Amino acid sequence: MSQRTKEMLAKMSRKQKVFQLEQLTTATYLTKGGKYHIITGPNSPIKFDKGMVYDVGTSLNLVGAETMIDAQTNYLKNSKYKNPLMIMQDVIHGHRTIYPINLAVASSFDRGLAKDLASMAAKEASLDGMSVTFAPMVDLVRDPRWGRVMESSGEDPYLNGEMAKATVQGYQGDMGKYNIAGCVKHFAAYGAAEAGRDYNTVDISERNLREYYLPAYKAAVDAGVKMVMTAFNIVDGVPCVGNEHLVRDILRGEWGYNGVVISDHGAFDELITHGVCENRKEAAYLAMRAGCDIEMMSSCYGLHLEELIDEGKITEEQLDKAVLRILDLKEELGVLDNPYRSVNVEEAKRVQLCPEHRALARKGAEDSAVLLKNDGVLPLDKNAGDVCVIGPLGNTGYIIGGWHCGGKETEAVSVLDGLKNKLGYDVKYAQGCQIEYDSVDESMFDEACQLAKNSKSVVLCLGEHQDYSGEGYCRTDINLPEIQYKLLDKILEVNKNVVVVLFTGRPLSIGRLDKVAPAILNMWMPGTEGGNACANLLFGDAVPSGKLTMTFPRNLGQVPIYYNHYTTGRPKALEDDDRFVRFTSCYIDVQNSPLYPFGYGLSYTDFVYSDFKLSNNEMKAEDKLVASCKIKNVGKYKAKEVVQFYIRDVKGTCVRPVKELKGFEKIELDVGEEKVVSFEITEETLKYWNRDLKYVAEKGDFEVFIGKDSDCKSFAKFKLV
Ligand code: BGC
Repeated sequence: MSQRTKEMLAKMSRKQKVFQLEQLTTATYLTKGGKYHIITGPNSPIKFDKGMVYDVGTSLNLVGAETMIDAQTNYLKNSKYKNPLMIMQDVIHGHRTIYPINLAVASSFDRGLAKDLASMAAKEASLDGMSVTFAPMVDLVRDPRWGRVMESSGEDPYLNGEMAKATVQGYQGDMGKYNIAGCVKHFAAYGAAEAGRDYNTVDISERNLREYYLPAYKAAVDAGVKMVMTAFNIVDGVPCVGNEHLVRDILRGEWGYNGVVISDHGAFDELITHGVCENRKEAAYLAMRAGCDIEMMSSCYGLHLEELIDEGKITEEQLDKAVLRILDLKEELGVLDNPYRSVNVEEAKRVQLCPEHRALARKGAEDSAVLLKNDGVLPLDKNAGDVCVIGPLGNTGYIIGGWHCGGKETEAVSVLDGLKNKLGYDVKYAQGCQIEYDSVDESMFDEACQLAKNSKSVVLCLGEHQDYSGEGYCRTDINLPEIQYKLLDKILEVNKNVVVVLFTGRPLSIGRLDKVAPAILNMWMPGTEGGNACANLLFGDAVPSGKLTMTFPRNLGQVPIYYNHYTTGRPKALEDDDRFVRFTSCYIDVQNSPLYPFGYGLSYTDFVYSDFKLSNNEMKAEDKLVASCKIKNVGKYKAKEVVQFYIRDVKGTCVRPVKELKGFEKIELDVGEEKVVSFEITEETLKYWNRDLKYVAEKGDFEVFIGKDSDCKSFAKFKLV
């Protein structure tokens, strides 16, 4: 804490200190009306009088340089103490130039790309006057029904941590005045909501929490993230915002985090709805006791904290510490010196959506697309005859994905336009069917089939509406709608050269699609440049290299299904996957294996893995082992490959996962080129939360795997002695 902020604090009245902890929407301060503004929750009325409103410390969710200037100017004009607002925003996967959803970016397995995309978003956001983004969201996810899996990086703790670090570095890194602060969320275990229903109960053991869910938040904290947001859910019966074990003991205690903690939207009031507090005063008490500094969009601190101090329940020192953390962040971000930070109307116009940013968003979409199936139809040949586009997602900008901040669908490139840009002729389009999941309207089938019949190949754009994923958008049916299957069947009757381009914010259970479609290219929700990226991929000007970071189930009944599950006492042998074996852990009506496993994704080229080596078959705690193998591009395309490194702890004092990702490297190989990739194993690599909940490596056998997906076989064993 600095001398300056200490002096500021000393001059503040108690009321002013309390109001530093309040956060309202930036729209509160507009004199001219906002361009864009979201309220993400059901809010109870906030009963602050005008004077109090102009003492509030921070604000959220409004985009635009001019609106920002208007809001800050008006705030400072009316505020008695003139302590500027620190302005925050959900910049989740891009600010104005929207890049693919985070689940997609993770599929790139490219730390550098994740960092560059975050930096781009930070630059665009800072030019609109933003100081903080409510990202990265690093909740580990296993249930594709949950709409928010699109914001996450998937089911693996190590990958989530790597993406968290890269993203934090991107926001807060090396861009000087264009940096913004990150805010990792939602602490903790929001991704474990029962039945994949948003805001639902989380019931999780301490072991599971520590082993799977906490590592990514910790990685963000270790990377220096400036803020942490608590989650809506309960953990061990207590909503996270008032959860002392999580916030005070683990986050601040064990991890030594000393930055700002903010609640989620309206979560203070939800302590009452949850039934753990009687009223707002008690909510304020619980949250302050746990260690939450900023209250987002409610009024518990504002109306009751002073009273709690008078009654001796909360100390002035607790309040001061919280306020200082906020003032220190304001100082660090330059808000105290310049309330407008980097806001710049002209520069924002030049930089946002500039060609370089579009190019990076396009690269992001290319490198995160996952080729799920290819019977040889792809890549398409530009000279082989007319290509047409069919499907409800073929001629629309509604492929940028939810949480698109200041991005606009009208500024996005559709698949149809992407193909027109590439091919230079008037590519024909037919919608074929509606996008709504319950549509039964077949009236557009004939037109679509006629077009398919007259074309050499068909790019069929199927999937989910972009508003079927994101906050508050959960589903119980994650298959494609029947109408889309019917359309596909009809088209296949007249043309077999069909490539299904899939748009989705979550894993889908598309076993039926996998059976019939000749090729499936999963674009996720690819962002502003989605159509151009898609065209590059379809024609081989870019080669797919994305790998799934969340398992695709065969059907919803398999959910939760994830690769890094524990061993059971009655596992079903892999070779028995296709048959029912009673009294083993399995189902009568479906295999145990998923449709597509974690780490899976095809390429247009072929990679051969050989020369697997492990430097020793024994190691002591202080030793290092090296696992390596050679990868050769034996196909016809220069391409990228994600080399994945897994370990299995064969026996522990607690049951261990069947496999755990411990490293990955994305390499690019020319045709015929080969490269040795190696991974280091240290004691740290082998640690886990053992029987006594101690984070240690236990002696014994370990298996080592390197391969192209999580189905790869082990090639060596070693012993920790
Ligand atoms: C979401 C957060 C988001 C906040 C502010 C909440 O409803 O859960 O992820 O940052 O709103 O918009």
